[in-house]
Amino acid sequence: MRFAFLASLVSLATGALAQSASADAYVASESPIAKAGVLANIGPSGSKSQGAKAGIVIASPSTSNPNYLYTWTRDSSLVFKALIDQFTTGEDDSLRTLIDDFTSAEAVLQQVSNPSGTVSTGGLGEPKFNIDETAFTDAWGRPQRDGPALRATAIITYANWLLANGNGTSYVTNTLWPILKLDLDYVENNWNQSTFDLWEEINSSSFFTTAVQHRALREGAAFANKIGQTSVVSGYTTQANNLLCFLQSYWNPTGGYVTANTGGGRSGKDSNTVLTSIHTFDPAAGCDAATFQPCSDKALSNLKVYVDAFRSIWSINSGIAANAAAAVGRYPEDSYQGGNPWYLSVSAVAEQLYDALIVWDQQGSLDVTSTSLAFFQQFDSSVTAGTYASGSATYSTLTTAIKNFADGFLAINAKYTPSNGGLAEQFSKSNGSPLSAVDLTWSYAAALTSFAARDGKTYAGWGADNLTVPSSCSSGSGASVSVTFNVQATTVFGENIYITGNQAALQNWSPDNALILSSANYPTWSIIVTLPANSVVEYKYIRKFNGAVTWESDPNNSITTPASGSFTQNDSWR
Ligand code: NOJ
Ligand code: NOJ
Repeated sequence: MRFAFLASLVSLATGALAQSASADAYVASESPIAKAGVLANIGPSGSKSQGAKAGIVIASPSTSNPNYLYTWTRDSSLVFKALIDQFTTGEDDSLRTLIDDFTSAEAVLQQVSNPSGTVSTGGLGEPKFNIDETAFTDAWGRPQRDGPALRATAIITYANWLLANGNGTSYVTNTLWPILKLDLDYVENNWNQSTFDLWEEINSSSFFTTAVQHRALREGAAFANKIGQTSVVSGYTTQANNLLCFLQSYWNPTGGYVTANTGGGRSGKDSNTVLTSIHTFDPAAGCDAATFQPCSDKALSNLKVYVDAFRSIWSINSGIAANAAAAVGRYPEDSYQGGNPWYLSVSAVAEQLYDALIVWDQQGSLDVTSTSLAFFQQFDSSVTAGTYASGSATYSTLTTAIKNFADGFLAINAKYTPSNGGLAEQFSKSNGSPLSAVDLTWSYAAALTSFAARDGKTYAGWGADNLTVPSSCSSGSGASVSVTFNVQATTVFGENIYITGNQAALQNWSPDNALILSSANYPTWSIIVTLPANSVVEYKYIRKFNGAVTWESDPNNSITTPASGSFTQNDSWR
């Protein structure tokens, strides 16, 4: 018994040593490869991005199964945020030209009319473009409303550096601010409209999107104030407060995790949520749970539930102790390209934990609450809720174990990174061999940001400290208009006419939740709906009779709402 206990202690300690040694070695060998991997995928002169215009980030050089030779606003903005952080903290002074290329390229893309609309009618929500800066016009999960927010966050970081370094005040105001204002106005006016999630699959509301929109408007308001663009400040702040309020609704208190999307019918356990903690990390915000900071009790509980969701479903995780690092992917139900672990998801877990360690060290203590108890008990089954100061034995046991746990995730990526250091999108859930897109730019950037966090590096905050969640939420986004729909339709007794369409206010194409019209002026059926201004609204009427649903014939009906006021649409059932 005693021997077994000692033996397991020894194996725990050697296991931990092996993990941190493996993480050390991986950081040393992979850092330059990951940096070169990012740079190779940026035009015009990246070695793997021929044909990409200056400042355009290709997602991956893979041209088939999958074809990723496109530029996504999300990937590009996350990648450039990492480069801008390196530049603005003096880690790499050579990046400035590339950053200027990026902001210029994004300014061009903003103006490209595309299937989501023009720059003023929703086109900013377009997820991806061709690498020659033309529109991608095939079917796709659009719009994706995280892109403008992530792009604004990246550019604000750069603009703040320019201002602080006394160069470019007029460049910031005349060139960067107009780009920022388009994205921030878009977020202000559209955050409450449905969106495809970051995985481009579910059309509803999505935690990651809401959180990055909140961050963008919060720092956007502060930035606008700083450069004297005060007219936008109150609008951005109002919607930031609404976003912060809405953000709370994703928390599932029974399950102890964040449900990633409001739609989709999955468990909701999703890398989306861990990515949110690292991309909205503000080192000045402590362990605040309202913004799901990496060391907050909610984000830690969520991390455990999310990681655990992959332990028993993939053979690559078999034989791994229940409290040790495991391979993780986008979400357990995933089947895209076989549904496998993703390097960037593994890196994100490590990064959240390193971020948490940074803040505990900064504040000289850590809190265990009833919400985070299960997370901490993985590392010390006897721990109870309380505050543990950095001198205490419990603090040291927990932080040492959590550092090893984090290193364990890097060790997983290390184990399944091929000898040339290349990072694809996925690795096999059964044997760990690389799968799907090769040289995924985002995989490299995710490796770099996790390594930086392991080194204790932090970057500028965005105003997440001292926020108060409003006591009641308002969905009031930007301007809205009142639209009257009248449709001529003859019906039989007991039959009713409903409407649904592509807007939240029209129940997002749900026949079950479609809105019933009034027959007060039969055979004209009517309803008044509040819809976003300046938007293309698609809709259809449906009939319901004894539980049977009949849709109008194709195509969908479409109107463009005016900028303000009210609007009446007269139709006949088709
Ligand atoms: C391509 C998207 O990029 C990916 O995220 C998604 O899983 C597949 N389409 C399947 O919808
Ligand atoms: C598929 C991923 O699901 C999506 O998030 C990403 O933007 C694209 N691939 C491009 O990397």
